[in-house]
Amino acid sequence: MQSKVLPLEEGKDPGPMNRTNQARPLPFRLLQLFLLFLVLCVAFSFVSLYTIRHFGIDSAVTMVKSNILPCLEESNISLGQWIKAPVDLMHSMTDEELFWRASFSPHIKNYPFKRVPKIAFMFLTKGPLPLARLWERFLNGHQTLFSIYIHSLPSFKPNFTHASVFHGRQIPSQVAEWGRMSICDAEKRLLANALLDINNEWFILLSESCIPLYNFSVIYDYLKGSKYSFVGSFNDLGPYGRGRYRDAMAPEVNITEWRKGSQWFEVNRKLAINIVQDTKYYQKFEQFCQPPCYVDEHYFPTMLTIEAGGVIANRSLTWVDWSRGGPHPATFGGRDITEELLTRIVDGQNCSYNGGTSSICSLFARKFAPSSLQPLLRQALDMFGY
Ligand SMILES: *[C@@H]1O[C@H](CO)[C@@H](O)[C@H](O)[C@H]1NC(C)=O
Ligand SMILES: *[C@@H]1O[C@H](CO)[C@@H](O)[C@H](O)[C@H]1NC(C)=O
Ligand SMILES: *[C@@H]1O[C@H](CO)[C@@H](O)[C@H](O)[C@H]1NC(C)=O
Ligand SMILES: *[C@@H]1O[C@H](CO)[C@@H](O)[C@H](O)[C@H]1NC(C)=O
Ligand SMILES: *[C@@H]1O[C@H](CO)[C@@H](O)[C@H](O)[C@H]1NC(C)=O
Ligand SMILES: *[C@@H]1O[C@H](CO)[C@@H](O)[C@H](O)[C@H]1NC(C)=O
Repeated sequence: MQSKVLPLEEGKDPGPMNRTNQARPLPFRLLQLFLLFLVLCVAFSFVSLYTIRHFGIDSAVTMVKSNILPCLEESNISLGQWIKAPVDLMHSMTDEELFWRASFSPHIKNYPFKRVPKIAFMFLTKGPLPLARLWERFLNGHQTLFSIYIHSLPSFKPNFTHASVFHGRQIPSQVAEWGRMSICDAEKRLLANALLDINNEWFILLSESCIPLYNFSVIYDYLKGSKYSFVGSFNDLGPYGRGRYRDAMAPEVNITEWRKGSQWFEVNRKLAINIVQDTKYYQKFEQFCQPPCYVDEHYFPTMLTIEAGGVIANRSLTWVDWSRGGPHPATFGGRDITEELLTRIVDGQNCSYNGGTSSICSLFARKFAPSSLQPLLRQALDMFGY
């Protein structure tokens, strides 16, 4: 008994006497077991084939099919499969890897498939989107014409229901600080993730306090019809403009090219790639534009003025109220939402559009507090058309 067990447990060489006694029965019993197993396998296969054929268990067939087909058809993948946008926005790419991947662009002008250009709404937030219900109403019925991306604090766990257009639209995020390069990194991250969907054509940066001012079709047509991208960019000669320029930024950035503008931009696909792929200006701004030089007010406007000055409208699409003065624009709460205010926002100005004049200047407005949600929902149909 002992001699049987010991060699296995302690790895000792079994004695010659034991070997002669046990060598034969063991393989024979194994062979028997193996044969029995084989017979059972064959029988099982026949039985399952029979049941599938004769009782039409389709799901079993399709399940087997779907598991096998990708392997067999690897040499026959359609273009649609190659360029399909990722369904799950979470990924493990580093920024370096992501920006590189996002910088891919086709060099043949015509798409060999019917491309329906989409708007990418990119929300740069700390956490929740208190005005989500307003946006859901605005977006309702236009599912094929937009995508949503949300960059928030990495610790934030959104709780959107499955039915919400915001569900699962969180991108891998990092802590971003206003006025620092990390905020531009977050914006680049939003652009890069949105670029992974080849159908995204217009990229709009928004905050949680932004609202749309027109119905979806008006906004879509305005962007589609525009010859320019809407990036705020002006030549501020004062201390908060040129005063923030450093000579060390030359020769990449000349003082005459130094621009200032609102962070809330709209860019087309080409400019989005310009931004994502940039390393030349990035280094200069990272090194020489630190508070009180607020890099998010200067980096993209200056860079795009140098690289693509002819194709930006030099104005933002996002309305904001600076009329109260001070370092921060006005925030509107529930009690501020009156017909007068909304009329002032929507009808208050004329501006240049494709070289002509348009009464539609801003497509979005900020800053709206969570308490403004209910009054906005009540007035949206009358005032904004959604
Ligand atoms: C590849 O797929 C196309 C369309 O799905 C099909 O028409 C074609 O016969 C397939 N070719 C091969 C070699 O399987
Ligand atoms: C999500 O959480 C917020 C508070 O963080 C709460 O006000 C809201 O009702 C929640 N939404 C859903 C759909 O559970
Ligand atoms: C959107 O608003 C415009 C102008 O107010 C109107 O002509 C159009 O019919 C509206 N579209 C939809 C889908 O409601
Ligand atoms: C750079 O700025 C100087 C003035 O400081 C100007 O003379 C020069 O033409 C500018 N160069 C470019 C390329 O804009
Ligand atoms: C925007 O400003 C740049 C110079 O900073 C200019 O070249 C361009 O024409 C302007 N765009 C429009 C639409 O006026
Ligand atoms: C915008 O232009 C129209 C027509 O040119 C004019 O009637 C209107 O008063 C202008 N609005 C503003 C706010 O300047």
